[in-house]
Amino acid sequence: MSDPELSPEEVREALPSTGDLMYLVGQSWWRCAHAARAGKWELAAYFARRVRGIQRRLGIVRPKYRDDLDRFESERIAPVLAALERCDLTGFERAFAEATDDANGKHAKWGKSYLHWVLPPDPPPDLDLSGGPGTGDAALGGDHDRGRTV
Ligand code: HEM
Repeated sequence: MSDPELSPEEVREALPSTGDLMYLVGQSWWRCAHAARAGKWELAAYFARRVRGIQRRLGIVRPKYRDDLDRFESERIAPVLAALERCDLTGFERAFAEATDDANGKHAKWGKSYLHWVLPPDPPPDLDLSGGPGTGDAALGGDHDRGRTV
């Protein structure tokens, strides 16, 4: 017996929630900062692009956030990526802090001022950040996940 078709309502119900996607954003943002501090520029850029890609998905499933997310991408994520491309830690720290402040401002704007994201002081335990600047295969601008913008 074949599976019954999903109704549009069921498809909508099964889509990730804002909280689901934001959880992923937070995980990648954390990894981005610690990778940059370890001099792993390409890895840090990979995670900044992950944040950008997840937020683009959020803009699709929750169009009410799209304007804020578009602006965040061009005004906040782009400078983070530009600093990483220059291997400029000072510029990265500034852009990262400004982006994080802005993100928390967005949480307040959307009625969630209790969601104040802070960078965990410890590096993520599941990433090898040893050995100084790395040149893994997640090259800047790479398309590791074809069809998605990472
Ligand atoms: C790098 C930037 C950002 C970080 C690190 C971040 C982090 C988070 C985290 C950790 C949560 C809680 C997720 C959970 O439920 O476990 C959250 C929720 C949320 N974020 Fe962000 N966020 C960022 C940017 C933004 C932006 C630009 C918007 C603009 C619309 C936004 C809107 C929201 C909203 C509306 C929620 C509440 C989700 C809900 O309704 O359940 N965030 N964010």
